[in-house]
Amino acid sequence: MIQLVLTLFILFFCLLTLCIIWRNNSRKYISSGTVASAYDAWTQDKLLERLWGEHIHLGFYATGKQNIDFREAKVQFAHKLVNWSGLDKLPKGSRILDVGCGIGGSSRILAKYYGFNVTGITISPAQVKRARELTPSGLNCNFLVMDALDLKFEDGSFDAVWSVEAGAHMNDKNKFADEMLRTLRPGGYLAIADWNSRDLRAYPPTFFEKLVLKQLLEQWVHPNFISINEFSNILRVNKNSAGRVISENWNFYTNPSWYDSIIEGIRRPFVILSLGPLAIVKSIREIPTILLMNWSFKKGLMEFGVYKCRG
Ligand SMILES: C[S@@+](CC[C@H](N)C(=O)[O-])C[C@H]1O[C@@H](n2cnc3c(N)ncnc32)[C@H](O)[C@@H]1O
Repeated sequence: MIQLVLTLFILFFCLLTLCIIWRNNSRKYISSGTVASAYDAWTQDKLLERLWGEHIHLGFYATGKQNIDFREAKVQFAHKLVNWSGLDKLPKGSRILDVGCGIGGSSRILAKYYGFNVTGITISPAQVKRARELTPSGLNCNFLVMDALDLKFEDGSFDAVWSVEAGAHMNDKNKFADEMLRTLRPGGYLAIADWNSRDLRAYPPTFFEKLVLKQLLEQWVHPNFISINEFSNILRVNKNSAGRVISENWNFYTNPSWYDSIIEGIRRPFVILSLGPLAIVKSIREIPTILLMNWSFKKGLMEFGVYKCRG
């Protein structure tokens, strides 16, 4: 009898998994609307936030090893990017635009530790709602629903423009760069971190790599990836950039994040369990993509690019 109940339970669980995978399998990029729906869903089911905290980006591990807490590594990442890009040279009260701000993790760090006046924009209404809930009153952070490819700000409105892991969702990387540099004042600071592929024209992917890239694109609403050099060139030739673009590959510092993002589920199992059986299925669903990301970044098929330049 117990065996029968157990078998039925496992069968039900497998069926449920298949149904959810089938139902959610359409996380393929169609338009910025599909990106908005995906992030609305990820925000509303609370899984991402409870598991990985308020930052939806990789962590910075100075030694390239998993020696600090994942959430702490994410905070470190934000401070490292501030220092590396020179934003820390800006005075308190400087106006900062956070493009693709998620639920405001970076925006709050920029406001709280550096005294900046931050505007965060995201395509996801649910993220704006959550970002506002998480932001203490008195902190200079303002969140708006807006498309990064059509920013509703005057030219030169900001002293710095910051964007972390949003560009891979943009189908038009030229327009993405155009809009950020247009809204940056002359002499202002641009700081970007993003997921890139290696140069696929110079080093075409093998058959297996093509399959992997397809999965990475279709599972997490990415229209395309370009290389660090390609995006650096886009920034360099833009009429609003001062021309000198510095980029680096931070794979070494960020790679431990992939395993850590899975281990978080083991460290904090109650986070998942408390959200119900659907949350368990949803988190299992992300594991193959996370493992493929880990493989791709380790093998150099994907590259973690950081960029800085002046307006
Ligand atoms: C991986 S999350 C990074 C969030 C945030 N920067 C962080 O580090 O926590 C990607 C973000 O880009 C935003 N995004 C994607 N496409 C966008 C677009 N066309 N316009 C505005 N935001 C966009 C998503 O809504 C999401 O907030």
